[in-house]
Amino acid sequence: MAETKKTEWNNNQDKELEILDEAKIMKKPKKVPLKQRENVIEIKNLDFFYNHGEKQALFNINMKIKENTVTAFIGPSGCGKSTLLRTINRMNDLVDGTIIDGEVMVNDFNIYEAGTDVVKLRTQVGMVFQKANPFPMSIYDNVAFGPRNQGVKDKNALNQIVEDALKKAALWDNVKDFLKDSALGLSGGQQQRLCIARAIAMRPKILLMDEPTSALDPIATLKVEELILKLKEEYTIVIVTHSMAQATRVSDYTGFFLQGELVEFDRTKKIFTNPKDKKTEDYISGRFG
Ligand SMILES: Nc1ncnc2c1ncn2[C@@H]1O[C@H](COP(=O)(O)OP(=O)(O)OP(=O)(O)O)[C@@H](O)[C@H]1O
Ligand SMILES: [Mg+2]
Repeated sequence: MAETKKTEWNNNQDKELEILDEAKIMKKPKKVPLKQRENVIEIKNLDFFYNHGEKQALFNINMKIKENTVTAFIGPSGCGKSTLLRTINRMNDLVDGTIIDGEVMVNDFNIYEAGTDVVKLRTQVGMVFQKANPFPMSIYDNVAFGPRNQGVKDKNALNQIVEDALKKAALWDNVKDFLKDSALGLSGGQQQRLCIARAIAMRPKILLMDEPTSALDPIATLKVEELILKLKEEYTIVIVTHSMAQATRVSDYTGFFLQGELVEFDRTKKIFTNPKDKKTEDYISGRFG
């Protein structure tokens, strides 16, 4: 009798431990009210020029972006959304003749200061592009590419990273039996989720997405949007979109840009229901753009 009791107790204890483990794995999101969250990105008095200063693309941008939020950049074509997005991981450095003035703080560090490790920065600030761009290699190798480059060699560790990233990108169930197949054989929507997995495998803090669903059908779009809402529990996300509906569905904050200026930046709900600026109102109601 005593023996049975002991076993029962042990079983219960095991169950509790299992539950605890699961809770740890799930990393329950912190439910910190928006107002109290830290700023992970702070853009201060930012001017940006192409062509050695001939073309100014951004004018005195100021913006604070809080952790574990989704921020949408909206505005008509050519207003500077992608340019601003790319300043957050110094992707514009790759364009010849660009000049930047002002500050972009990521985790309280001005990333334009001399001595910034740009490679490390880009692992912390990942990017997903408009057109899915998987490398011409297997699904597994796409996701393992970054960690391998960072020096992860252990096969088990790599397997775990790949599995975690694909799970977070909601792609694992689709591809787990085909990891050695070419990534180019995936559908457009799956390729985009693979690119998100590839970015996640680098364990970034921030994810930048430039029109990540503009080439996808409505169902694939919805899947990526659901993913964004899930990912913000762990990451801070900035997304450029031409879809007002998408901005309202996924974002907490929205910035409206016009000709290189940030016209208005506020809670998404406020921007879409009661904007301060007439130009914002005209744009969101489809009067131009
Ligand atoms: N590599 C470049 N060289 C010169 N000018 C550029 C370059 N890239 C962008 N521009 C200019 O900078 C301005 C902002 O461009 P950007 O691509 O940031 O706009 P966008 O808001 O992302 O537009 P879209 O919605 O069409 O993607 C535009 O006038 C554009 O022509
Ligand atoms: Mg763009």
